[in-house]
Amino acid sequence: MAGTQSEAARGVPIRMSDVVPFPLSSPVAPVPGPRSGDVGGWSERAVTGRPVDGRVVPPGGGPVRVRPAGIVTIDGPAGAGKSTVARALAERLGWQRLDTGAMFRAVAWALEISGQGFDAAGQVVPETVRAALAGLDFRLDANGVPVVDGRALGAAELRDPTVEARVSPLSQVPEVRALLRDRQRAFAAELLGRGVGLVCEGRDMGTVVFPDARFKIYLDADLTTRAARRARERGEEVDRVRVADELAARDRRDRERAEAPLKPADDARIVDTTGLDVEQVVSRLLAIVAPGIVAPGDAAGSAGEGPR
Ligand code: DC
Repeated sequence: MAGTQSEAARGVPIRMSDVVPFPLSSPVAPVPGPRSGDVGGWSERAVTGRPVDGRVVPPGGGPVRVRPAGIVTIDGPAGAGKSTVARALAERLGWQRLDTGAMFRAVAWALEISGQGFDAAGQVVPETVRAALAGLDFRLDANGVPVVDGRALGAAELRDPTVEARVSPLSQVPEVRALLRDRQRAFAAELLGRGVGLVCEGRDMGTVVFPDARFKIYLDADLTTRAARRARERGEEVDRVRVADELAARDRRDRERAEAPLKPADDARIVDTTGLDVEQVVSRLLAIVAPGIVAPGDAAGSAGEGPR
């Protein structure tokens, strides 16, 4: 699927809360005075390492003009590659990653453990969910890992089959979305306040949670590809047809729900990952993101698409 160039070219205002120093992982030489013609938060830094990736640093190092840390949103259906790609992109940028699906899964796990929120047939009961949320001890650690009652949750809890079955219906409960949206925004504000950018992935990052994000990506892939990826993650003996059916049902629920449905933001860049490996997808995203971080003309070898 082709990207929506005209939408991407449309400017997105940067809020003051976004205007914080870019975190440079490498030594920085003294900063020269402002360049004439500097606009929109660009500031000149001498960079001797690689602030974004090897391709965007002028040969031999800086100076380049860099822009403050901000937010990259990555939305899309299950199996589109969001988690892997978000992790790689955050690493390359030196930014933090946040998997918001894991937050919904953590709430599903907490309710399952406490026996609340669902009836005997496994159907979500919104009133009991609301009551359970009031007593929920849920937070994110510094790396964005969900912590419930002091226990950091990993794949064993978050990928549990019961959690897998319950998370999508649970994510339709408005109070759950409101709670997690507030936590996601607080997490981002804390990072940006320290000059660290955020790559966050989910379903409604660009549409609802961070509508002013500097970069919005929507990852997609055809159902067969997405089911094959999920089946590979789960092991050889998994029935791919069943995995595809489950994914299709979950996507339908996520797309058709009233609250924050899965859809690309109007100003998102759509990247179809069908047939691409992780490195190819990350390169495409860097080509979108890097020109907004390292000024055009300073970015050696970047696929300049103009800053936003
Ligand atoms: O990305 P994932 O498969 O871990 O997400 C699990 C579920 O959580 C998914 O079915 C929809 C929901 N979710 C959501 O509604 N909004 C988000 N931002 C992230 C996930």
